[in-house]
Amino acid sequence: MRKPGRRKTRVVLGVTGSVAAYKAVELARALIKRGCDVRAVITDSASKFVTPFLLETVTGHKVTTSFWNETESGAIGHIELADWAQVLVIAPASADMLAKLRYGFAETPLLAVALATKAPVVVAPAMNVNMLSHPATQENLRELVARGIQVVEPESGALACGWVGKGRLARTQEICWAVQKAVSSQDLAGKRLLISAGPTREPIDPVRFLSNRSSGKMGIALAREAHRRGAIVTLVHGPLGARPQVPAGVACVAVTTAKQMFDAVLARAEGRACDVAIMAAAVADYRPSSVAPEKLKKADAARSLELVPNQDILKELGTRRACAGAPFLVGFAVETGDVAALLAEARRKLAAKNADLLVGNMAKDSFDRDTNRVWIVARDGREEHVGTASKRAIARRILDAVVSSIGSSLCLHTPVQH
Ligand code: CTP
Repeated sequence: MRKPGRRKTRVVLGVTGSVAAYKAVELARALIKRGCDVRAVITDSASKFVTPFLLETVTGHKVTTSFWNETESGAIGHIELADWAQVLVIAPASADMLAKLRYGFAETPLLAVALATKAPVVVAPAMNVNMLSHPATQENLRELVARGIQVVEPESGALACGWVGKGRLARTQEICWAVQKAVSSQDLAGKRLLISAGPTREPIDPVRFLSNRSSGKMGIALAREAHRRGAIVTLVHGPLGARPQVPAGVACVAVTTAKQMFDAVLARAEGRACDVAIMAAAVADYRPSSVAPEKLKKADAARSLELVPNQDILKELGTRRACAGAPFLVGFAVETGDVAALLAEARRKLAAKNADLLVGNMAKDSFDRDTNRVWIVARDGREEHVGTASKRAIARRILDAVVSSIGSSLCLHTPVQH
């Protein structure tokens, strides 16, 4: 959540009475690990599930449990806490808490902080499936969302009460993403981003395929970052071995072959369906001219495979630009030569594929790595080098370049109101 030396994000963590309250400890630790300064405020019933002492040990701060311990040394008052917070996250949030938040009750320090703070509020509900689906709770949630409160959807599964259904506290990672989003500039708010990621697989026979070493990490980092900045993100990805680690709000479309990726991307980029398309996938340029229906058997003689070209997805999007509503186009170029050759290829691909931005990178810096270094080449001639950094930091710089290229029409900051 921050670079070394940067100020910590100030988080007030509200905990309410639910079996999931014990997970608040893990959440506090995860937030601290991501560079947050966490102060906890817990309700009476939460303290039956998780002790203030435990949260104090984890956060390094006195925990606020009632209006009457605020004067104890080390504790800070509820108004001070409300002003101190950059974000208030209530996890788990019980049905009772949601109702009281909706109506503006202030009978506990946590409710008073929620009422007094100007910071964004994130709530992660956890409760019995029937309490969650009750029209009263649903109405409360709708009202909170309408006020700008971010709700982290509970998960489905076995609940502590014995029921199976929706009501489990969202994963810690998901709540952390929501907290990050709450404190980020929403300069991509409402913009629809289509991102391709990972390799494709071109089958040879039922057991073999042609592919490449792409891990999909760059595309996934772009999807996370764009979601954090308010974009509505669709990630079309090739085989990655596991479900991509992206927030639940990112729509994922899994494909296997270049043809499937072509169809999935084109269907979602048609008309005015998307504002920005970032093609980070390493699409196979060729596929076998035919797929053997049975496993090809070993022979002593040499064997050759006839390959036919796949359609170029980015180029196709580029040629359709003449149509009104065509998305802003970002491509990648992965090369193996020196920097001069990389830049020459990036400029050539930018023009050949009619893109707006081309991100050049070296295979050795990028494949299978969590870091990368890139050169961003723009249609208007601007060029920017981003030295070795995490793929998240690189994604941030690429999206900065997108936002600055598109200009103020993209910079819609959604004001927080709750
Ligand atoms: N790309 C694509 N469809 C393809 C091939 C590539 O959309 N069939 C996109 C990639 O997602 C990337 C850009 O085109 O954004 C450049 O990909 P790259 O593999 O570097 O270049 P190629 O055009 O395939 O050329 P070469 O392999 O000869 O370098």
